[in-house]
Amino acid sequence: MTKVPDEWVEELRQRVDIVDVVSEYVPLRRAGRSFVGLCPFHNEKSPSFSVSPDRQLFHCFGCGAGGTVIRFVMDIEGLTFPEAVEKLAHRVDLQLPAGFHRQGETPPQDSRRQQMLDAHQLAAKYYNYILMNTAAGVQALTYLEGRGISRQTIMDFELGAAPDAPDALVRFLRKRGYSPSLIVESGLGVAMGAKVVDRFRNRVMVPIRDAEGRVISFGGRALTADAKPKYLNSPETELFHKSEVLFHFHAARKNVRKSRTAVLFEGYMDVISAWQAGVRHAVATMGTALTEEHARRLKRYADVLVIAYDGDAAGRKATKRALEIAANYGLTVRVALFPDEMDPDEFVRERGAAAFQRQVHNLAVTELEFLLEDLRSEAALDSMAGRTDFLRRALALLAERASPIEQDAELRRLSSEFQVSPEALRQELAMVAKRRPKRNRQSRMAAPEEVHRASVPVQEKDVSASQRILQALLVEPRAYEWLLSRGVDELATVEQTALLARLYHFRSVHQDGSPSAFLDSLEDPLLIRLASSLLMEDPPECSEAVIDDCLRIFKLHRAERKLREAMKELVQAQVDGCDNVTALKHTVEELQETCAALRQQLAGSMVTG
Ligand code: UTP
Ligand code: MN
Repeated sequence: MTKVPDEWVEELRQRVDIVDVVSEYVPLRRAGRSFVGLCPFHNEKSPSFSVSPDRQLFHCFGCGAGGTVIRFVMDIEGLTFPEAVEKLAHRVDLQLPAGFHRQGETPPQDSRRQQMLDAHQLAAKYYNYILMNTAAGVQALTYLEGRGISRQTIMDFELGAAPDAPDALVRFLRKRGYSPSLIVESGLGVAMGAKVVDRFRNRVMVPIRDAEGRVISFGGRALTADAKPKYLNSPETELFHKSEVLFHFHAARKNVRKSRTAVLFEGYMDVISAWQAGVRHAVATMGTALTEEHARRLKRYADVLVIAYDGDAAGRKATKRALEIAANYGLTVRVALFPDEMDPDEFVRERGAAAFQRQVHNLAVTELEFLLEDLRSEAALDSMAGRTDFLRRALALLAERASPIEQDAELRRLSSEFQVSPEALRQELAMVAKRRPKRNRQSRMAAPEEVHRASVPVQEKDVSASQRILQALLVEPRAYEWLLSRGVDELATVEQTALLARLYHFRSVHQDGSPSAFLDSLEDPLLIRLASSLLMEDPPECSEAVIDDCLRIFKLHRAERKLREAMKELVQAQVDGCDNVTALKHTVEELQETCAALRQQLAGSMVTG
């Protein structure tokens, strides 16, 4: 999709009222100038979710979710930016910009994109009809019956059959007015010389839908083991971006939201079997590894992700990768393991729905258990060297990602299994832990101060002065020049510095861009959270004088730190009788003067250091 013009998005933001939109999902009541309610993005009993009609922003003081009305719709509906603006534009009858469809003149319902969607919907109905009502579908229907797929499930997923004919679908679509070029562009047909033929032949057809439930592509399963490829999927098109799509997300979404848990399979056939077995919060990627975009989408609804990949080596490897990505987005990961290199679909067929449910829910192991088990499967436990090596790796893993309770339980287990005293293991763990600092698992979700606390202790006042600077840059376009001319490129915390860099970039491209436009340009949840909390506060006074005061606070604290160090050095030098005492005294005096001067300058200011 082409980029949506900034001015159009600004117009949209101004037309939509955030309070109206949010109220449809969250009961709100007025509290002063804002509205408050229970946050839809985390579980809470007392309301910390606030919506400001003046600023047209929302922010949760509990979980940190925040942003403009567009972000709200993206997060609550699990939509991409273009999907969310499209939805909001319909709401306020704002005509979609020319970029949304190829031909600027044509009204939205006739746009090429819409035609492609219509063609897909029609194709799904066609394939489903062939499967259920024609001789051309008998082989596919028999195949599905053989896999234990019920009629109800066929209807739930609108499964179908592509007939074994060169251009059955193409002819069907042509008769209904779809041009050959559109059929090719949508991925349903393929150009063969001057002719257009069907992409899918003699396959079970699985419609793939977007987050709104519209058919955007197909997956086709071969009917026999020798037909290659086993699965044929639609190519990337304007409608279908496989790195973003989660199969069956539109239907799983409400169950995911209710249980705050999602199940992730490797194959879409697994999702279909699981659905039939009553596991209705499952999705699958489209033959790709889990991407950040997928994780982001899932995190909007789920706290826990159960990864239920195939039990073979490839499945385990993919599990490790998916686990890292999911954990980075703050999802708690569980891994459902299937025995004997079975895949989930085989498991449900062999052991039944109840056993399957248990496997996915009760028997799923934690991230730590899975990784330990994985280490174990690679270790040569029959040799002394192999066992020691395994223990080292296991302890490193514990140091890096286990809670104290998990560490304790695991140490006991390892102690009895390897006949090593718990004390020895504990000592070794302490040593490993020193070398390997604990990984901050939810680094993307953690509060900014928390991430920074690990490194240099931060002066609280530096943090608030940095906030003032960021607020100035957010609401006052002139602040960009002021700060650049003073060479400010670092603030108190890592996140504040990151936000500063993003704001510089934004201001360099959009001199007068609104704070909302900036907020909508951010992707990183941590930065969104920081920016929206800054914007929810009362707009600060911002002038060059205020910025200079903030910078003086930084300078003052830097000088005070140096002063403390110099004084320590001086005392030590005096004790040791070193000959640099005079020089050090001089340094201390100079720093004292600098601090005094800065304090005096700050005395009359609004920003206090
Ligand atoms: P699998 O081969 O594990 O699928 O591929 P499966 O669910 O076990 O298939 P059945 O049970 O034999 O029918 C997992 C996913 O990888 C992609 C598909 O998205 C599939 O759902 N894939 C696999 C392809 O795209 N092409 C292929 O040829 C095979
Ligand atoms: Mn399978």
